[in-house]
Amino acid sequence: MLNVEALEAAYGESRILFGVDLSVADGEVVTLLGRNGMGKTTTIKSIFGMLKPRAGRVTVDGEDLTGAEPHRVALAGLGLVPEGRQIFPTLSVEENLRATARPGKWDLPRIYELFPRLEERRRNMGTQLSGGEQQMLAIGRALMTNPRLIVLDEATEGLAPLIRADIWACLEALKAEGEAILVIDKNVDALTRLADRHVVIEKGRVVWTGTTAEILATPDVKDRFLHV
Ligand SMILES: Nc1ncnc2c1ncn2[C@@H]1O[C@H](COP(=O)(O)OP(=O)(O)OP(=O)(O)O)[C@@H](O)[C@H]1O
Ligand SMILES: [Mg+2]
Repeated sequence: MLNVEALEAAYGESRILFGVDLSVADGEVVTLLGRNGMGKTTTIKSIFGMLKPRAGRVTVDGEDLTGAEPHRVALAGLGLVPEGRQIFPTLSVEENLRATARPGKWDLPRIYELFPRLEERRRNMGTQLSGGEQQMLAIGRALMTNPRLIVLDEATEGLAPLIRADIWACLEALKAEGEAILVIDKNVDALTRLADRHVVIEKGRVVWTGTTAEILATPDVKDRFLHV
């Protein structure tokens, strides 16, 4: 459904991506792995139109979205939970959720069912939330667009262990519902429990790709590309 081919990107003169290939099928859970600064967020920004790719192609169901504006990417069915969460600080929880709403199976009652904590906090401002609540809100906000694919850049970064477990459980629940997910995180063990397939990037290039069975059978992958 999402197809990224030979994606190249740069910040000014500084070239970061040198041909990233990546795809996600309907209902599939795929990870984008790699150490700090290898180009994961840059890949996501290039897919979502926040950074114009220098070369390559991004398509959703064959529709060419290469370099499209972020709102067009969202309309094509990609929902983003961005690095740093970036919720609207001056809006309440409920206003944050309504701000991006598009018709579909994900509506306020369903989001509150997934995250009862958000219902308790529905009148609180974005700034009054804990990190975990902010991440739940960021996920809820992405789901409210009723995306075909939800993309999480750092699913559990900076969260306490118990909250992390909640986020992983939420992603398991989304997977069980058949949602397609592209997820970035530092916790490779949690990712291998969750995902079907993995794409490892190093210095802006895909250096390994394979299924969960393959990554578990190749401990070398972790040693070579993922250990800090
Ligand atoms: N706005 C920017 N201007 C210039 N260089 C940038 C910018 N953002 C990122 N970079 C550089 O691009 C490279 C890739 O960064 P990117 O954020 O894509 O990495 P990442 O894989 O997401 O890392 P992390 O795991 O730390 O989130 C890094 O060398 C980084 O310093
Ligand atoms: Mg990043």
